[in-house]
Amino acid sequence: MINTEKQLETGRKKILWAQSMMPVLNSIRTEFEKTKPLNGIKISACMHITKETAVLMETLKVAGASVMLCASNPLSTQDDVALALEKEGINVYGKKNMTDEQYYQSIEKCIKFKPHLIVDDGADLTSSVLKKGTEYYKQIMGGQEETTTGIVRLKAMEKEGILKFPVVAVNDTPTKRLMDNILGTGQSTIDAIMRSTNVLIAGKTFVVSGFGHCGKGIANRARGMGAKVIVVEPDPVKCLSAHYDGFSVMNMDDASKLGEIFVTATGDCDAIALRHFMNLKEGAILCNSGHFNVEINLNDLKSVSTNIQNMSYGVEKYTLKNNRNVIVLAQGRLVNLALAEGHPSSIMDLSFSNQALVAQYLVKNSKKMNGAVYAVPNEIDERIAQMKLKTLNVRIEKLTKKQIEYMKSWQIGT
Ligand SMILES: NC(=O)c1ccc[n+]([C@@H]2O[C@H](COP(=O)([O-])OP(=O)(O)OC[C@H]3O[C@@H](n4cnc5c(N)ncnc54)[C@H](O)[C@@H]3O)[C@@H](O)[C@H]2O)c1
Repeated sequence: MINTEKQLETGRKKILWAQSMMPVLNSIRTEFEKTKPLNGIKISACMHITKETAVLMETLKVAGASVMLCASNPLSTQDDVALALEKEGINVYGKKNMTDEQYYQSIEKCIKFKPHLIVDDGADLTSSVLKKGTEYYKQIMGGQEETTTGIVRLKAMEKEGILKFPVVAVNDTPTKRLMDNILGTGQSTIDAIMRSTNVLIAGKTFVVSGFGHCGKGIANRARGMGAKVIVVEPDPVKCLSAHYDGFSVMNMDDASKLGEIFVTATGDCDAIALRHFMNLKEGAILCNSGHFNVEINLNDLKSVSTNIQNMSYGVEKYTLKNNRNVIVLAQGRLVNLALAEGHPSSIMDLSFSNQALVAQYLVKNSKKMNGAVYAVPNEIDERIAQMKLKTLNVRIEKLTKKQIEYMKSWQIGT
């Protein structure tokens, strides 16, 4: 077998493996196979090219759509999966280790496809198509966004009046955000640190910058592995919550002197920057799980380094002017997708079931919507939760008529 054939086979097996753990998306797929809700619809997706994304792309295709996929990160593509997906008639533009130029060329392909729907992760496709002008976006019915940073950017576009079609904030819906961002990022970030460095987590001082959804998940999983966790967060309410959860809370000036492993998950730039690097202990490991590679300021780090040495794939040792060595994972890009496989398939089952049903929703409803960011309709979220619970054989509490009435009333007190 030549190499490509082997890769194709591995890619196919990985997709089937993911599919076997995505029962909700599978049942939506079965329904879409019969009803074809996306017949004649062209979809451009800018997403991490993983085995789970492949299952979503297949579902959209089965629903009648023509699909084109490009990478939403230069390092996150699983090449064997991309190959297998291409074999199935989905145009895929992305490979592991793309240059920035190749990355934007792939986005350009997805724009020139003239899609009716956009599935985005980080808003690079949406912002690029809007920058190109009406000619390129006039046929777009709507978009859907997978991550927090994308939503922040879309809301900024909406505020400036440049968002010209409706976009549904898939990221913000509970069946996505409360599972994917918290549980998925928590597990896969620790997985990436362990796979790439084989470092012992137990006993380490582990600094989590950002105690939002992702940060909370990472902090909890690190603690579960036996680490002493420090939280760095600017929001006073979240700091209080972290404190009462039993984490140490401090600023990065102090944490940078104590930490042995650092993870950023803020969606912000410069969470670790110039004034922190000289504080770092010998051998400190730095990585990022936020969407863009701006959270650890690598230009600042380079400016105080005398040497950079590659240790293994995605692992670089920076020697600082004070002769201490600091390890940076995945060039500061989101570590869980660059050095591991992203979230578990059973988590992506929820995120991508939302994406599939939102695509159907947009086709039906986009004419009534404006150039704004919309929430996922509650019915979709509830339907997905119900379906997932069913696959888990969980029977949930059902309220009686009396209880429903009581919960709506005010007359009965002590
Ligand atoms: N790696 C993944 O697979 C994955 C999955 C989901 C989301 N994300 C990305 O992770 C990032 C965080 O997402 P989220 O859903 O947790 O967002 P969130 O808004 O829930 O949390 C971000 C937190 O970071 C804090 N913060 C902001 N600036 C900070 C700074 N300089 N230092 C310390 N804390 C700071 C905020 O106050 C907030 O509490 C986003 O970029 C998002 O797109 C990554």
